[in-house]
Amino acid sequence: MTTAERIDGKAKAASMSNGIKEETAALLEEHGITPGLAVVIIGEDPASQVYVRNKKRTAESCGFHSVQHTLASDAAQDDVLDLIENLNNDPAIHGILVQLPLPKHLDEQTITQSILPTKDVDGFHFVNIGKLTSGNLADAFVPCTPAGCMLMIEDYLGTDLSGLGAVVVGRSNIVGKPMASLLLKANATVTVCHSRTKDLAGVVRQADVVIAAVGRANMIEGSWVKPGAVVIDVGINRVETTVDGETKSRLTGDVDFESVSEVARAVTPVPGGVGPMTIVMLMANTLRAAKLSVGLDG
Ligand code: GUN
Repeated sequence: MTTAERIDGKAKAASMSNGIKEETAALLEEHGITPGLAVVIIGEDPASQVYVRNKKRTAESCGFHSVQHTLASDAAQDDVLDLIENLNNDPAIHGILVQLPLPKHLDEQTITQSILPTKDVDGFHFVNIGKLTSGNLADAFVPCTPAGCMLMIEDYLGTDLSGLGAVVVGRSNIVGKPMASLLLKANATVTVCHSRTKDLAGVVRQADVVIAAVGRANMIEGSWVKPGAVVIDVGINRVETTVDGETKSRLTGDVDFESVSEVARAVTPVPGGVGPMTIVMLMANTLRAAKLSVGLDG
């Protein structure tokens, strides 16, 4: 029985964050600018509040100008669009992120598309999606979670995945689709699976790289995984467990970490894997947006 390497996203993100902090200090010293990140949160989704707090804390620790706009859950669409327009026009703000999911009455597409593509550090604007899907990565803002997953995959398999099969489980716009584009760009043979896929376990078993982004706790088991595969767990599921009669809540991924560890070459834990990498990629995108805004290479 082998034991997979535990991919330490937290440590990798911390080391990248140090590099970003140094570059931020140099940017201020040499060009007089500080990267500015505006995060907009609408409503009271508890998970979103935690994510936004972490993003703000990390932005501050990198030396960024960090602002948070908190709107009530019944905020009017026009008020959200007015806020985004102000941020689009604010020279101190280089990156704008509207935390998803939005309350039901708001139109997600209109809101995400109202952010200037040059400030779209989430990579959700159609201009950035178009650049990514057409393989024009040098010029695109790439969504943070898939970008972070790629860096962890590269640590094990390098930047050229020629001849390797990658299976992405999940077809969301935030993770599944951009992940597939990045893997294709790296020459992997990519399969995207979803809730209508037949024999999901059989398809996953063919893959040298597995990306799990479905939102179902511990769904991908060791028996589904090809020996030696690299497995990236994007899921963040809150599950309740009862210990000595006491109900506790804990986070778990889409991958059954223990059984998969017995067959895979490497696997990301939850928490401590993809999550911290997502946040640091947001910082990297914001730093890049700030540099591009003054004509420097991103
Ligand atoms: N909600 C969950 N993940 C994300 C993300 O990457 N960006 C935004 N804006 N909202 C999210």
